[in-house]
Amino acid sequence: MKIFAHRGVSGHYPENTLAAIQAALDCGAYGIEIDVFAADGELIVIHDRQLQRTTKTKGNIEDYKLSQLLQLDAGKGQRIPTLWQVLQLINNRCVLNIELKGHDTAPLLLHQLSQAQQQLGTDIAKLLISSFHHPLLRHIKQSQAELAIGALTACIPLDYCEFATQLGAMSVHCDRAFIDDKMILDAHQRGLEVFVYTVNDQREALRLKALGVDGIFCNFPAEAANWF
Ligand code: G3P
Ligand code: MG
Repeated sequence: MKIFAHRGVSGHYPENTLAAIQAALDCGAYGIEIDVFAADGELIVIHDRQLQRTTKTKGNIEDYKLSQLLQLDAGKGQRIPTLWQVLQLINNRCVLNIELKGHDTAPLLLHQLSQAQQQLGTDIAKLLISSFHHPLLRHIKQSQAELAIGALTACIPLDYCEFATQLGAMSVHCDRAFIDDKMILDAHQRGLEVFVYTVNDQREALRLKALGVDGIFCNFPAEAANWF
């Protein structure tokens, strides 16, 4: 079972921060999942457009300048990282799943990954780009075919994983509330891996493993490694 540290080790550290990502590297997680928004010409690592939950700040990302966003306390003195900082820290040591949260993230992502390949030696074979915004994923795959795509869905579509095939995806990322044997069988027949979010207890993880799921997103990846 592949274990992705969901927003880093977000069960023990402030989510989507360098501390949470370092912890995921330290525990040897297969992959790390982060959420990314565009902000003032930069890609920043944060899950909510509204700043209140993680930074105790009023308003939305777009209400602030980048310099102001980067000074906010994202928990326990941690700052909101940029995607660039995360790529630097991970340095190809595990798979990085970049989940695109905004509709305007694609041009910045493609530009930054090209820069990161040249300046940081980023291995794009270790990246997995996902989003609930499927046209955006299609645009990314058409622009850079080598990038692996994770097709996110919160539902079970009428034609199961056909959308993921159309996207040229490597994997389908499904909600634990809906995933079932038909979806998993359809994915595997199409050559897609099945990763399920967000799985934080052993009983459910073992149930999913028995169903044939290939990986989980988990807030406690060190503990999860002992579940199987
Ligand atoms: O990428 C898997 C999962 O993170 C998707 O949902 O809301 O946690 O970003 P969310
Ligand atoms: Mg996410």
